[in-house]
Amino acid sequence: GGDEGNKPVSRLRRGQSKKANAFKAWALAQRKQALHDGEPEHSMPNLLGLKPKVVAIPKMAPARPPPPPEGIKKASFVTVGRPIEIQAARLSLPVVAEEQSIMEAVNANDCVVICGETGSGKTTQVPQFLYEAGYGSPNTPTPGLIGVTQPRRVAAVSMANRVGEELGPGGKEKVSYQIRFEGTAGPSTAIKFMTDGVLLRELSEDFLLRRYSAVIIDEAHERSINTDILIGVMSRVLKLRKELAEKYGTKPLKLIIMSATLRVSDFTENQRLFPVAPPLLKVEARQHPVSIHFSRRTVIEYPGEIYKKVCKVHRRLPPGGILVFLTGQNEITHLLKRLRKTFPFKKNVESPLHVLPLYSLLPTKEQLKVFGEVPEGSRMCVLATNVAETSLTIPGIRYVVDCGRSKERNYDKTTGVQSFDIGWVSKASAAQRAGRSGRTGPGHCYRIYSSAVYERDFPEFAEPEILRMPIEGLVLQMRSMNIDTIANFPFPTAPDRPSLQKSERLLEYLGALDPGGALTELGRVMNFFPLSPRFSKILIIGQQHECLPYIIAIVAALSVGDVFIPEHQLDIHREADDEDAAGNAETALEDTQRAKGRKEYYRAHRAFSSLDPTSDALKLLSVVCAYEYEKDSTNFCERNFLRLKAMQETHKLRQQISKIIVANCPGVLSSFNPKLPPPSTAQVKALKQIIASGFIDQVAIRADLLPNSPYKLSQNSVKRVTEVPYMTLFASSAFQRPSDEGLSLDPAVYIHPSSVLASQSLYPEYLVYSELKKSASPTGKVRMKPLTSVTGAHLAALAKGTPLITYSKPLGHVPPKVLDDSMGRRRECWVVPRIGGAIGRSEV
Ligand code: CDP
Ligand code: MG
Repeated sequence: GGDEGNKPVSRLRRGQSKKANAFKAWALAQRKQALHDGEPEHSMPNLLGLKPKVVAIPKMAPARPPPPPEGIKKASFVTVGRPIEIQAARLSLPVVAEEQSIMEAVNANDCVVICGETGSGKTTQVPQFLYEAGYGSPNTPTPGLIGVTQPRRVAAVSMANRVGEELGPGGKEKVSYQIRFEGTAGPSTAIKFMTDGVLLRELSEDFLLRRYSAVIIDEAHERSINTDILIGVMSRVLKLRKELAEKYGTKPLKLIIMSATLRVSDFTENQRLFPVAPPLLKVEARQHPVSIHFSRRTVIEYPGEIYKKVCKVHRRLPPGGILVFLTGQNEITHLLKRLRKTFPFKKNVESPLHVLPLYSLLPTKEQLKVFGEVPEGSRMCVLATNVAETSLTIPGIRYVVDCGRSKERNYDKTTGVQSFDIGWVSKASAAQRAGRSGRTGPGHCYRIYSSAVYERDFPEFAEPEILRMPIEGLVLQMRSMNIDTIANFPFPTAPDRPSLQKSERLLEYLGALDPGGALTELGRVMNFFPLSPRFSKILIIGQQHECLPYIIAIVAALSVGDVFIPEHQLDIHREADDEDAAGNAETALEDTQRAKGRKEYYRAHRAFSSLDPTSDALKLLSVVCAYEYEKDSTNFCERNFLRLKAMQETHKLRQQISKIIVANCPGVLSSFNPKLPPPSTAQVKALKQIIASGFIDQVAIRADLLPNSPYKLSQNSVKRVTEVPYMTLFASSAFQRPSDEGLSLDPAVYIHPSSVLASQSLYPEYLVYSELKKSASPTGKVRMKPLTSVTGAHLAALAKGTPLITYSKPLGHVPPKVLDDSMGRRRECWVVPRIGGAIGRSEV
């Protein structure tokens, strides 16, 4: 606008807008295409906070003659020639017996909820019922795709394959799948399996889902964040499609929610979601009795216990498959090797074990082996993550060995940073796992934990993911669907209001929402990347100075996280202010070993700090680049105290992000080249600013620079003290002190020992951080990591045009004030002049 010219434009801002323009043009083109088609445009009434801008009338076949009169048992529009053995297997599935009542309920209602035990045939059969009733086929009353969503990619692919097979000749072309970056959909697709995220993305392109005649949301009991949102959004879509149907004679959409448990009251008894409660159909499954055996003790080293248990079952117990639940790929591969070695396929080995892995990242072909033939004379043993808990039913299982744990995505509400943690599953999950052994006959479940631990530590049910996860990405996605009043959105379980407000404010800071709360063009583009909004923002402004390939590498590594083996795992780190009580008891030998370990550790870490000594992000960049040049990556990781798996994941994510950019942003990036030359000095400088732009609300200033600071540090004394205090700058993101009673606590934050800054005793004036962590030691110091230094001038430039308050030098003399923070608690904040003298509006 006109006043833009009055403000100083820094180099960074200029580059930013140039880059943003490239994305803008591209995004605009995309949007135009989505609105397309030359069909007449109609405005829709504003329904419960939803604001579809322009809605074209769905192109659908005109109404056809009504279905055949009653008396004919099944209204079958499409004939399916299933292979005989498939037909026979189908008949034994409990769901098949319910076909008629299911289809009657679907015909009479817009939304139907089906509950049935895992293995009762919901996923494989219900889409086929719809297909045979004419959904998904041209020239029936209900053309338009049958969409089936899954929370897991593995399930989407394998179920599409299975249903294709079941449909007999020509079935393969009728059933396709689509997961994040790959899909098989074609012109003759009738049933499309996909992850719930894929359908959410389709919804932001066409809110009416005009291509679909029916949508099945599967595994709703898992309560994944996407499934929950999908159900909320779909309730609105159903309403819109119904209104259209009444006005223009098009077909309403059918929604089927499927769950493996009866815990569905969040969907069925939620008036805001469905004013008329959808009918609940229960499918009775034939479950055989399962004997549960707890361990006497709960061992931390459970993989060893599991190995012993599997050996014992295999050697001593009658035939029947073994299903082992583990937490992740590493555990699975490790146990796999061990078991294959113990029970190999050799001539003189009497009872070989047919061991198969099953986890999300396994290639599809390998995953499908669990449904294949078991070699003569051997016993099947599947080592799985919780994929096998409800999404996939493996035939022939009689024994389940359960570690009782799973790897879960967690996040800290204060910092918004995610992590993967191993924790106990819920009692409901443990029951599902045990149930897998009772499909074909009486089964046994061996729990590698004690009943005491089970009773005391296992939660009844898993908390819905929406309460455990950061939601700024979700808010952004919903805004892209024109859902403006998110607080009014009919969530099955609503996120708490402070989290919502915090997310909205963050999106505003990042420029994804304008101060009025409307989605900006930048926000629209940010939504294209499968990354948290912070990282999308960094990526989008990352094109200047040819920085994009480096930024992709940094964003990938930061997203994956935990690339370095933490120092405390080497048992060489100790907090500087902790009492070294154990010191005397240690032998001299242990001391020297420890010192040697520490020396090695620091050597490795320092080697990566040469690009810039004040940024952990750039240290990560060095690591990622070096890794790609190395032939023996295992050795490289061992030598440098890196986690191989994190490095492999980072590589994959780099590839994925690059792919999206190459495919969608012509001329921005030509291809993915894993091997990068070292960045120039100018680039290093730019990289740090670009990174800071994603963390503009997470800035800390060295405490001695504050007005009236009790911390007085001259440049000389800085070098000598062990711990230099910092203060977080923005009230909304600052560490929330345990308010009143905790006033005596140290309000400062400190550099985390894992940071490159800690090992070099460098204390820049300003830092951006992505995480605040409370130390477990009695001092309870709050530490920041990973860190990147930024200058006051750059901060000012980056915060320009946002409602942020930021410091500019000189700081002026503003005393701290006691104000309500974003959580409504009274706390001390520093109110500082905004660039240009104004006071930022949202913090004060
Ligand atoms: O969805 P739900 O858990 O109710 O059952 P399903 O996944 O539809 O599985 C029904 C049956 O099909 C099970 O007995 C599976 O073992 C079998 N199935 C199979 O044999 N091969 C596949 N690729 C998928 C399922
Ligand atoms: Mg299923």
